[in-house]
Parts: sequence; structure tokens; C-alpha cells
Amino acid sequence: MSCYDIKSAENPDNALEKKHVPIIDAPDTVKKGEPFEVTVKMGEIDHPAEKDHFIQYVELYANYYQLGRVNFTPEMRPEVTFKVMLEESCTLRAFEFCNLHGQWEAKKEITVE
Ligand SMILES: [Fe+2]
Repeated sequence: MSCYDIKSAENPDNALEKKHVPIIDAPDTVKKGEPFEVTVKMGEIDHPAEKDHFIQYVELYANYYQLGRVNFTPEMRPEVTFKVMLEESCTLRAFEFCNLHGQWEAKKEITVE
């Protein structure tokens, strides 16, 4: 596995996963076209925020369409809340990129009524 692979949760006991797999906080069901909040934060264990090791960005997708991206510096906590409006049900996909450990993905199904 290289740092260019996209990694996701496979082993809940793995400390590296706990530091890197993003957590998506969003409703399960939303109303079509109405804004709601999606918060993406880092894993269960706090990730280091050091000059040589930090989360560089978080991206949020609806299926394969990029909704937004936020870049971070080591001085910032890598947590962001997006305001999103959807027209149809989709899979929310959050990516976070660690400069040492590469890209990690989390997914959440969201139903639009
Ligand atoms: Fe890391």
C-alpha cells in the first residue's frame, strides 16, 4: 500500500485508523433543496498537529461530485462544518489528507425526501 492509496476503516482497533478516518456528522434524512449541516472531523483519537505531521485538507463529496474542500495548517484543528443542499439521495464521502499517512475516506448514506 502506498501513501497514494485511499484508505478507509477496516479494523476498528487500529490506532492509525482511529487517528485518520474522518467522522461525518450529518442527518440521515433531509428535505430536498433545504440547507443542512455536515460536520467532518478527524477520527476518534486526536491527530497530531505539528509542522511535519498534520491534516492538510478535508474534502466533501456527494457521490463523485465535490461539494467543498478546506485546507488546514498545523495551527488549525482539522474540523469543518459545511452547509449543504441536496436535490437527491446520495452517498456523502469525506476525505482527509495527512501529509505523512495519505488519504482516508469515510462514507454516509443520506436520504433526500
Ligand atoms: Fe497522520
